Amino acid sequence: MDHFQYHGGRLRAEDVPLEDIASEVGTPFYCYSTATLERHYRAFADAFAGMDAMICYAVKANSNIAVIGALAGLGAGADVVSGGELKRALAAGVPPEKIVFSGVGKSEDEIAAALKAGVARINIESDPELDCLNRVAASLGVTASAGIRVNPDVDANTHEKISTGKRGNKFGIEWTRTHEVFIRASAMDAVSLTGVAVHIGSQITDLKPFEEAFVRVRGLAAILRADGHLIDSLDVGGGLGVSYEDGGDVAPSPADYAKTVKSALGDLGCKLIIEPGRAIAGNAGVLVMRVIYVKEGASRTFVIVDAAMNDLLRPALYGARHAIVPAREASSGANWREVDVVGPVCETGDVFAKQMLLPEVKTGDLLAIRTAGAYAAVMGSFYNSRPLAPETLVKGDAFQVVRERISVDDLMARETMPPWLESGG
Ligand code: LLP
Repeated sequence: MDHFQYHGGRLRAEDVPLEDIASEVGTPFYCYSTATLERHYRAFADAFAGMDAMICYAVKANSNIAVIGALAGLGAGADVVSGGELKRALAAGVPPEKIVFSGVGKSEDEIAAALKAGVARINIESDPELDCLNRVAASLGVTASAGIRVNPDVDANTHEKISTGKRGNKFGIEWTRTHEVFIRASAMDAVSLTGVAVHIGSQITDLKPFEEAFVRVRGLAAILRADGHLIDSLDVGGGLGVSYEDGGDVAPSPADYAKTVKSALGDLGCKLIIEPGRAIAGNAGVLVMRVIYVKEGASRTFVIVDAAMNDLLRPALYGARHAIVPAREASSGANWREVDVVGPVCETGDVFAKQMLLPEVKTGDLLAIRTAGAYAAVMGSFYNSRPLAPETLVKGDAFQVVRERISVDDLMARETMPPWLESGG
């Protein structure tokens, strides 16, 4: 459940009507609900209560420092995949000992920054990265606490672009090579490799692939231990999906997901690291936009809105369908029409929804795209020289702009004419 509900005919984020935020900040804008973030974080924390488990919110889903800060205040750690995300997590108040650093291409500088910050664990994903970690840690005079991300060759049964655990994907080290890498690492002075990590993909709505991957990790832990290697932590990644629209995929609950983790890995005496991103932030946000025109096309009606693929790339990139609802609740006598909801960007792919049933709308009406709390603002761009939409955070009856609109003037201020193009040059 989320906290975006109609009350008195107006769609509210907790107690704040989205219309009120729109009149203050303009459109389009993202709006996040603190109560929903908290609810989702707690669902994970409760599901893993009593276990030695660390919930490291995957910052990539929504890296606004206010969002990370709200979760950090509840005790969340962070999963980061770049020096930038590390900076944000630290700035938002996540203690370094609750930060794990993942990612297939961590640079030497990023590794050094993570080691200097004292993060809990760095998950390495290749042999050269292990060498780099050893080198950088030695030069800093520290021992790097590391895990190895394995590629378990499991089909996550999700969109191909966000499936990460199959042989042939760029992620992780082939699971069959894990033992060999541990042997190599044990000869290194500045790396302490004691963890196994796995992340098989995102928006996974079936528990079976998780189970398959975790069973593989269990087998690896047994083999490694039998050979005398210390295995003290298992990182199960993220990936639990969410429901995007009525009638669409229904995701398992964090409680059911936790049961799968526990039954495969709960009795190994290891610290468990869980990295949910979307399941925490997805339904905690909406993207609010205004109708610019309603255009009666040759074969379809187009609702042209002022948000576009640069604000929410998921439909264009993954063919994702997000529910879209009016900010004013449809009256019982509303005229429902089948429409295409499209943005103004000059690409045919700039479509939020095709043949969607919406109550009749007109120029100036407000619409909200649901489930835009994860992988929306973070994937935003300036394409077509459109500003970056502001982000707002609601708590009860209060709201705050937590990232201002970044205007085209802001962007142009960082561009320069080379001297040979300047007039008279
Ligand atoms: N841990 C690792 C190592 C990851 O690569 C990811 C996501 C997560 C955790 C969090 O996964 P989640 O719980 O959010 O599924 N932009 C795509 C999603 C990309 C996910 C990338 N990795 C989308 O909009 O669907």
